[in-house]
Amino acid sequence: MRTPIIAGNWKMHKTRDEALEFIYAVADKMPDKEKIETVVCAPAPLLRSLVKRQGDHLRIGAQTMHESDEGAFTGEVSAQLLKELGVSYVIIGHSERRAYYNETDESVNLKLKQALKTGLKPIVCVGESLDIRESGKTQEFVTDQITQAMQDLDADAMEKIIIAYEPIWAIGTGKSATSADANETIGQIRAHLKALKGDVANKVRILYGGSVKPATIQGLMQEPEIDGALVGGASLESSSFLELVHYSD
Ligand code: PGA
Repeated sequence: MRTPIIAGNWKMHKTRDEALEFIYAVADKMPDKEKIETVVCAPAPLLRSLVKRQGDHLRIGAQTMHESDEGAFTGEVSAQLLKELGVSYVIIGHSERRAYYNETDESVNLKLKQALKTGLKPIVCVGESLDIRESGKTQEFVTDQITQAMQDLDADAMEKIIIAYEPIWAIGTGKSATSADANETIGQIRAHLKALKGDVANKVRILYGGSVKPATIQGLMQEPEIDGALVGGASLESSSFLELVHYSD
């Protein structure tokens, strides 16, 4: 009932030529968009070129945005501008943004509201560090991130939100959570959303992220709570991205 999503997060990778090469390589090989939503989240200067060439089955996303309409925020990009460019999705609160650019639960909440107001589909990231996992506080930490991110949002808004559970210790490390562990935490996130916002929680897509590879995607997607994946490293090569989006073939 929840349409799966496979989203690539290119981070600060690829030149324009490399990005276009990727787009041309995947353009006519994407799966049916009714069966699966596919997204590539690219660096801001590449977005326009990608949007113009994305084809019908691949959507383009940004990796961050500012929470204000406009203003004196040197270097930042507004949601409105992303929307105008034809971008459909935006990652909010990625752990790298939280760690290196001081994004907080409060700013995540503001960005989330701004994305929804503008008509972008937000992919909101949460996830615990290794210390938190080892101290047995994963559920408490992640559900608190969810409470704060979703503050003041009503049930209607919730349906448009995508959540990505990305344990920080699994990002870019090759150490993925097991499918069962990821399913358990995502189940806890959904139960928490249900307690906060009601049955709409059953409609919210919750993705797993952290060292997802073509070899692990099937196992993850077989889990009942996992609705897709946010993929960094393995989304950079067109061949590997195609394997990921065709996991069910
Ligand atoms: P990774 O990155 O797949 O390279 O671990 C995932 C992410 O940061 O979104």
